[in-house]
Amino acid sequence: MKFKAVKGTSDVLPAESSGWQYVESVIRRQAEKFGFREIRTPIFEETALFVKGTGDTTDIVQKEMYTFTDKGNRSITLKPEGTPPVIRAMLEHNLLKENPLAKVYYIAPMFRYERPQAGRMRQHTQFGAEIVGSPSPQADVEVISLLFHTLQELGLSGLKLRLNTLGCPKCRPQYREKLVGYLKPKLPNLCEYCNDRFLRNPLRVLDCKVDQDKFDDAPEMGQFLCTECRDHFQAVQDNLSVISIPFVLDKKLVRGLDYYTRTAFEVASRHLGAQDALGGGGRYDGLVEELGGDPTPGVGFGSGIERYLLAMKNQGVKFPEEKRTDYFIATLGNEAKIKGMEIGTQLRLKGYICEQELLDRSLKAQMREANRLNTRFVILIGEDEIKKGVVTIKDMDGHSQRVVPLNELVEKILGAAKQ
Ligand code: HAM
Repeated sequence: MKFKAVKGTSDVLPAESSGWQYVESVIRRQAEKFGFREIRTPIFEETALFVKGTGDTTDIVQKEMYTFTDKGNRSITLKPEGTPPVIRAMLEHNLLKENPLAKVYYIAPMFRYERPQAGRMRQHTQFGAEIVGSPSPQADVEVISLLFHTLQELGLSGLKLRLNTLGCPKCRPQYREKLVGYLKPKLPNLCEYCNDRFLRNPLRVLDCKVDQDKFDDAPEMGQFLCTECRDHFQAVQDNLSVISIPFVLDKKLVRGLDYYTRTAFEVASRHLGAQDALGGGGRYDGLVEELGGDPTPGVGFGSGIERYLLAMKNQGVKFPEEKRTDYFIATLGNEAKIKGMEIGTQLRLKGYICEQELLDRSLKAQMREANRLNTRFVILIGEDEIKKGVVTIKDMDGHSQRVVPLNELVEKILGAAKQ
């Protein structure tokens, strides 16, 4: 029987992992520039955290969670998103008592039982960031800027930031009521999803990919905003303009999670197909209280690293070159292998990338391998070399070679490196 990776999951093979490492290093550098510190929460949590945090009317909680009962009879869920676990950790460890403002980021796998397609997986990896404690519109702009500038730093272009406001518990109910009145007569002509969403969360009907065109004359949240929400949304837009981040207002952007208040946003790429959202997020001023904390505002985003890589590939972004192997130690015979082991150990201690023959291939095959590894120098130890107490160093760029006494080898190399 042959095993395969489970549907909707994929392996990152050695040839791809340097691309991942590069993207992760850019993310970490960007997050640090803004003063975000990394947080790592467990891969699974109590199921109730997501039911309450993500929201029991969402597709995620209703249809997509990987939930199981553990041997202690607890209901456990692999995390489908990062925000509720981060808030849980902050509350559990009293981070907000130590300091009223917490800025964290994470790079972590998430699990959702969705229909797999390009850019949509059952296990995906998110770079997310959260600012908890600040009600300021500048906090919204800071997380948007972190996402947008990280994508730009990676060389991605054709980015589109869509922005909306979802109001707050004070002004949203009036809008919701108006929207329900507008949608109700349309229901018989709307798809199954719309009808389902209408019952769970009518705002989400606007987000339907099938019927979206039918809602052009839908009532707009903008007309129902309270003064505070209106001012907040204006300030977000003004601040984005000041730092030259272009955006479009999209009144149909409602996002798939229940906790959002006020700002909602998404960044899409022109270089992706149907699943074009590189990242999305928004403000969640009620979530901390919902999860048992004092009323505390929050704002953040999540973004899919698999989609970053796909967009970079589609756009033809060049990744930095992989590090070269400094030395390949080619050996023939047992004595040479032992000497090679000694030399390799010394060179690695000095910081060089150094590989050694492990397959007992012919010298010709070993040189081919050295070439494949884009090696800078080959240290050749054959039977002849062992007899004479020397090694041959081949310069693979200059195509020259020299013979060096074995006992002087490491000093000679270090001397050459210093020059
Ligand atoms: P989300 O929009 O559900 O938000 O996911 C964030 C991003 O994760 C998406 O924009 C997409 O790039 C990526 N993503 C989501 N599902 C998949 C999938 N099945 N396959 C590949 N990539 C995927 C959240 O998760 C919120 N926690 C974001 C947030 C943080 N809001 C406030 N703070």
